[in-house]
Amino acid sequence: MKVLITGTGGLLGHGLARVFAGRHDVRPVTRADADITDLAAVRACFGRWRPEIVIHPAAIPDIDECERNPALAQRVNVEGTRTVVQAAREIGAAIVHISTDAVFDGKKNSPYDIDDPVAPLSVYGRTKVEAERIVAAYPAHWILRIPLLFGPRAAGHPSPDFVEKGLRLVAAGKQYIVASDQLGSALYTLDAGRAIEQLILKSTPSAPTFGLYHLSNAGSCTRYELARRAAEIAGLDASLVVGKPLAEMGPRAPRLRYAVMTLDSLAKVGVAPLRQWPLALEEFIHSLGGGEKLALKN
Ligand SMILES: NC(=O)c1ccc[n+]([C@@H]2O[C@H](COP(=O)([O-])OP(=O)(O)OC[C@H]3O[C@@H](n4cnc5c(N)ncnc54)[C@H](OP(=O)(O)O)[C@@H]3O)[C@@H](O)[C@H]2O)c1
Repeated sequence: MKVLITGTGGLLGHGLARVFAGRHDVRPVTRADADITDLAAVRACFGRWRPEIVIHPAAIPDIDECERNPALAQRVNVEGTRTVVQAAREIGAAIVHISTDAVFDGKKNSPYDIDDPVAPLSVYGRTKVEAERIVAAYPAHWILRIPLLFGPRAAGHPSPDFVEKGLRLVAAGKQYIVASDQLGSALYTLDAGRAIEQLILKSTPSAPTFGLYHLSNAGSCTRYELARRAAEIAGLDASLVVGKPLAEMGPRAPRLRYAVMTLDSLAKVGVAPLRQWPLALEEFIHSLGGGEKLALKN
């Protein structure tokens, strides 16, 4: 397959490019290659390469940044997605769009289904809902709602993910303060890539798998449980991971107290369920290097 991936300087884009490279003809696209808010640039990039599939993780995913700068969130998450859809339409490419569990309101006590109504709490969530609607109006689409990510970073990616950030603080002898009452799922970027690849390959012209899906590693965890397990796996002092109620975490964009999602949508089209999050976490932390404890202190 000829696959173009946006945002490959970022966490998920990098992971997807790693999984697809070697198996498919992959064109990684960073902001330097084509700013997604610039239709002419995106059109030129897509037109030169003419992918069959466009995978679109590029976005502003920082929930607090979106709350501080809603105009930027709108420009990139909504208008940028409109641009990507438009350019894909012009070359007849199908789109894999990456969305988020933050489209929900977090008020349920049982896993969110793909049919549950969206009711975002934050600017970020609202922009992602708007983006979903733009993508959904284009027939050849897959929309994947995903939870908190962890995985390897692209060289030069400035900020570690939630897991690596904690490992670095704890390895330096500092506390990592995280929410104790924010329950959700987690997703290893490389597992995400393998599942997305299966989803695309299951699609045939007579039986397309297009539609809306939820994608995460199996099992649920609070942010505290995830960070603590990561420290334990890395052989670090897990007592430095400190859980606090969301209400005591200071002024920030509203977070979902509950964000677990049902996973049967992918199973129904034959995509193998992802492994439990602790197993994926273990693989990720070991991949940070044999001498990981030393590496983490750098
Ligand atoms: N991170 C999570 O835990 C999480 C959870 C749920 C859903 N998601 C969704 O997953 C997707 C990927 O998130 P991520 O964590 O991988 O984000 P990330 O690491 O911040 O990567 C996003 C990428 O988008 C690029 N980008 C931003 N503005 C752009 C523009 N105007 N033109 C072109 N590229 C632009 C960034 O480029 P620069 O590097 O040049 O800024 C960056 O490489 C997003 O759609 C996000 O909403 C993420």
